[in-house]
Order: sequence, then structure tokens, then C-alpha cells
Amino acid sequence: MATIIRWRPPPVPADPKQHAQAVAEAVATAWHGQYGSSLNEVAISVVAALAVAGQHGPPDPDMPELVANLDRARFAELVKRIWLEWSIVRPDLVPRARMLWTCLDGNLDDALLRAVHSVGQAALRRGVWQLGAEQNRRHEVDLLGTVLQAVTSAKAKQARGQFLTPECVTELMGRMVEPPPGRSVMDPAAGTGRMLLGAARAMREQGLDPADAEWWANDIDPLAAALCAVNTDMWDLGFRVVVGCGDGLLTAWTGEALRQRQAAIDELLGYVEVARKEAASRHVLNLPAPKDPLMQHLRAARPAPPRQAPPHSSTFDAASAYQGRLF
Ligand SMILES: C[S@@+](CC[C@H](N)C(=O)[O-])C[C@H]1O[C@@H](n2cnc3c(N)ncnc32)[C@H](O)[C@@H]1O
Repeated sequence: MATIIRWRPPPVPADPKQHAQAVAEAVATAWHGQYGSSLNEVAISVVAALAVAGQHGPPDPDMPELVANLDRARFAELVKRIWLEWSIVRPDLVPRARMLWTCLDGNLDDALLRAVHSVGQAALRRGVWQLGAEQNRRHEVDLLGTVLQAVTSAKAKQARGQFLTPECVTELMGRMVEPPPGRSVMDPAAGTGRMLLGAARAMREQGLDPADAEWWANDIDPLAAALCAVNTDMWDLGFRVVVGCGDGLLTAWTGEALRQRQAAIDELLGYVEVARKEAASRHVLNLPAPKDPLMQHLRAARPAPPRQAPPHSSTFDAASAYQGRLF
């Protein structure tokens, strides 16, 4: 008989940066120990999924225990399901973040399943759930960038020039710039978005809500751009976010990113329409809704849409984005 892992929230460092570093080191050790140095995006996808699941979940003490007790195949299924749910909550970020779930497509072989499971357990033991779930922690730190740096070899970092600015420096820069409310913040070579994090933290320190600003980010590396997209959600930067993937020295990325964003929102709206019709058919035919505890949990965890429209934005149609167009 399988032993049940009883879940107790692990003790975590008080400092969110140390907390993120502890998660990143445990993940790098688990991944490289099990799988070597390829497919790093799979390891990062697992950590990011566990972090966003905690973020969108209501306080549910049973959920980490449920996750910790899944076998390898079910754990991999859970990660895919979390991404599926997330892509419905944030269709606007799908064009950038998609690679985090397409890297899990197809039948994962035993070695990959073992490595995915091992990374997930290591991250859970270091408190990735708490880091995602507690707003005060996740608003303070670039967990995904820290994990990216930990799993990427020194040579790969050097080749890409991908040395992310320490968060204490971006914090200081954010304070020096003091982004005014309602304005745009742009980083055309954003990595995982630490400059955006610095600006958002400075806004919060001034009592401003970053969701009232526009956020533009881009990186030539698809994985960094994917993590930046997920980060904008973890940092609660709102819905006026555009993340591109292209050469930031050219301006073409902005238009292309905006076009892809809208196409992804429209695609989701098409699916929503089909789902509405299916729900109406079930109602008319008195058919029971399919039951699935995991889906029910995740569905219940979906955040309520913001009530008030933010101030006018020249780029986004705030009224439609906040009153049903996006969802
Ligand atoms: C030194 S990192 C800085 C990242 C981020 N701005 C920060 O402060 O943490 C430089 C980033 O620029 C990206 N990059 C390099 N050349 C680029 C280009 N032509 N267009 C867009 N991004 C580029 C790299 O992939 C890397 O993520």
C-alpha cells in the first residue's frame, strides 16, 4: 500500500528572496540530478505551474497534500491542467506563455515523468505553494527568474547575455524613476521582467495600483518572455500587459505582440460561446454537469474580475477589457 504523505506547511525563510533562492536551488538539484542539463523549460514549467496554482487558489489547506500524494503520471497531468486553467484566466498572455505547456505535450517517457515529479516535490518541500499563494511574498520577488538562473548553465547565460539585474537594484531604479500613475512602463529586453517588478514595487510604495498602468515587455529569448508573461500575472500588474518576443532593437515587436494578444482573447471568446451553448443544452435536457474535484477546485479558485474600470488608456479599451470582453 502506498504511504500517504501528510502535508505540513514547510518552514520558509522570512525573506521572500531567500525563499525563492531556496526553491530555485532545490529545483536545480532535483532536475539536474534526475535529467541532466536539457529541457530546462520543463523544470521551470513545473515550478511556475505550482506557483500560479497557489496564487489563484483560495486558502485550501488540503490542496498541497493532494498534490504531494499524486503519482508521477497524475502529477504531470495536474501540471498540464493548471496551465489549461491558467490559459483560460489569462488568454491575453497565452501567445507568450504557451511554450510552458507545449513542452509537456505528448507522452512523457519514464525518465521525464520521474524528473517532473521529483522537481515538483522538491519545490513543494521548499514552499513554492506559499510563495505563490501569499501576495506579500510573490509581489516582492522574481521566483521564475531565480529558477531560470539556477537551472541555466553559466555558458548558456553568457551566450545569451542573460544575467538578470539583481532585484535590489531594480527596486532602487524603480524608486528613482517613480513611475507616475496611469503611465506606461516598457523594457524591450526584459528578461523575466525584473525592471517591471522594480517599477511595480515603487508604485505600491507610493500607494498606487500597478494595474492602473500599462506594461510592455519583450525578450528575444522565448523562455524568458514566457516567464515574464507569467510574472506579470504573479505580480498582479493587471490586464494592460503586452509581452512580445522578438528583437527589441526594432520596434516591430510591439504591433505584433498586440495583434497576437487580441487574437488569443478572440479565440478564447469563441470557446466560451461554444461552452455556453453546451451548458444551455445540458440545462434544457436536464443532464448532470460532469464532476471532477480537481476542476471544481480550480474553477472555484478563479479570481473575481476587477470591479472598477481603471483610468482611460490610449492603448486598451478599458471598458471592454474590464466588463466582459476579456472574460
Ligand atoms: C542582461 S539581461 C537583462 C534583463 C532585464 N532587463 C533585467 O534587468 O533583469 C538582457 C536580456 O536581453 C535579452 N536580449 C538580448 N538581445 C536582445 C534583443 N536584440 N532583443 C531583445 N532582447 C534581447 C536577453 O535574452 C536577456 O534576457
